[in-house]
Amino acid sequence: MLISLLICSLTLLFPLGHSSLPLVINTWPFKNATYAAWNALKAGGSVLDAVEKGCARCEMEQCDGSVGYGGSPDESGETTLDAMIMNGDTMEVGAVAGLRRIKNAIGVARAVMEHTDHTLLVGESASVFAENMGFIAEDLTTNKSLNIFSQWLKGNCQPNYRKNVYPDPSKSCGPYRPKATVARSKRAPHANTHSHDTIGIIALDRDGHVAAGTSTNGLTHKVPGRVGDSPIVGAGAYADSAAGGAAATGDGDVMMRFLPSYLAVELMRAGADPSAACKSAISRIKRHYSEFFGAIICANTTGHYGAACNRAPGFNQFHYMVSNSETDTPILKSVDCF
Ligand SMILES: *[C@@H]1O[C@H](CO)[C@@H](O)[C@H](O)[C@H]1NC(C)=O
Ligand SMILES: *[C@@H]1O[C@H](CO)[C@@H](O)[C@H](O)[C@H]1NC(C)=O
Ligand SMILES: *[C@@H]1O[C@H](CO)[C@@H](O)[C@H](O)[C@H]1NC(C)=O
Repeated sequence: MLISLLICSLTLLFPLGHSSLPLVINTWPFKNATYAAWNALKAGGSVLDAVEKGCARCEMEQCDGSVGYGGSPDESGETTLDAMIMNGDTMEVGAVAGLRRIKNAIGVARAVMEHTDHTLLVGESASVFAENMGFIAEDLTTNKSLNIFSQWLKGNCQPNYRKNVYPDPSKSCGPYRPKATVARSKRAPHANTHSHDTIGIIALDRDGHVAAGTSTNGLTHKVPGRVGDSPIVGAGAYADSAAGGAAATGDGDVMMRFLPSYLAVELMRAGADPSAACKSAISRIKRHYSEFFGAIICANTTGHYGAACNRAPGFNQFHYMVSNSETDTPILKSVDCF
């Protein structure tokens, strides 16, 4: 009797089976970030609070060395941060790129959204903005990032992201000059799964309000000034409370050319299942870069979700985290790449 009552009320509460709101979903097995976002929602916070808290947790914990301070030094040894947050109700976005000295990049992104009419601030000026808004200036360099940098120098600056330059970038540290004749070959991506682990989060509350965001320290040994997909609207993430949310991770230089998060959300708006929308967004890139490294997560407004990734050398399966009213705790999920 009690059990059938229980089953009955469960069925009433969760009529859609594998979906339930609220929902938090994030890239990679960054469980503490999922917890932080989920707890923010449970404490009555907004979906923006959830995205901010989740990303901030990763920035503090330096998730996989690829989020936050002390990771991914560029060619000059400096760590800089990129982040973005998007409100799917109002379509407001705040983002920062190439942020120096400030550890809480997602916090600064939110400040851009809430305290300016702008969308994206970059570089030194973004850092000055952050300092004026009360964020603490700190050194983002750690012994670990110094060590990564000095090992790279010792190894003749390999790998690096230069092409069509002399001296030969596969043997030297530059300074580089452009070659007069440009080879029209497609760069073989030297992406690997350990240098591109951006956190991307989508949060939905029980009324279907959507927010999404990202935070990363970019690509190790990047050319200073390089901005990847993460802080770019529609590339790193996208949210629209009338359609859903998506967030991408991987070889940002390639992925940002296709706006995969925007594409996935538009496909869900047109009725596509979240997994199918994710897969289509990956397929679009795959057509041009068959071996690119990348993955995307998608959620629609009823809390159905999915993910997809491109099969690349050493990357057959993508892991992500989900917490919703059914699980009430972060659950590790995986999807086979295709
Ligand atoms: C996650 O949080 C727990 C508890 O605060 C902590 O002990 C653990 O080190 C964290 N995990 C990571 C990967 O930082
Ligand atoms: C970094 O290295 C310096 C010198 O090698 C050492 O004195 C310092 O304690 C180290 N800092 C940390 C946080 O490990
Ligand atoms: C979300 O996706 C599920 C699974 O495809 C579908 O049943 C549901 O109708 C979708 N929700 C909306 C609002 O489109």
